[in-house]
Amino acid sequence: MLNKARIAVLVSGGGTNLQALIDAQAAGIIKSGEITLVISNKEGAYALQRAANAGIRTETVLKSEHPDFEGKLIEILDGDGIDLIVLAGFMSILSERFTNHYKDRIINVHPSLIPSFCGEGFYGLRVHRAALDYGVKVTGATVHFVNEIPDGGRIIMQKAVDIEPDDTPETLQKRVMEQAEWIILPLSAEKVCNNIITEANK
Ligand code: GAR
Repeated sequence: MLNKARIAVLVSGGGTNLQALIDAQAAGIIKSGEITLVISNKEGAYALQRAANAGIRTETVLKSEHPDFEGKLIEILDGDGIDLIVLAGFMSILSERFTNHYKDRIINVHPSLIPSFCGEGFYGLRVHRAALDYGVKVTGATVHFVNEIPDGGRIIMQKAVDIEPDDTPETLQKRVMEQAEWIILPLSAEKVCNNIITEANK
């Protein structure tokens, strides 16, 4: 009987989405899973501090130190019995070897309404700059399963956010996080964890 899915969160930066997941777990929004591990591919990422503050085990895995970077990730994730991997601002594209190993077990948050402004090269502020340059009036965030195509996996949830006339990439990024990412990422994690435990207990 599996009561809670074990969640690993992969990060590279500030970790506000990780914080939203931690807060959602504390608030009981995430109840079918438990964050047991946070892995960063950047030394000293603030996300690691957030994890430590919440008493969550952390690991740092650097490409420069591990020629088989993904092999090292798999070793740690499988060693911890992870059921769901959440990419929360993880700035590294994962190969088919990795995504096939965790088929339907990896989700990612992307700061636009996929299929707009996504794929290789679209990450962080670049996404919001592209939306503003194009002149769209509505953007948002998407949570999707991760497969071998960057931002190409099945969509789980999306939420739209209005663009304001005087937006900069920075103001838009903040609004998309507050109004979309921090809401749909925890809800999606709960939904997928719930499916995982339901399937496991059949
Ligand atoms: C978030 O906006 C996330 O959607 C984006 O990076 C930011 C990370 O912030 N991810 C991507 O662009 C992935 N393609 P955080 O570290 O504060 O969660």
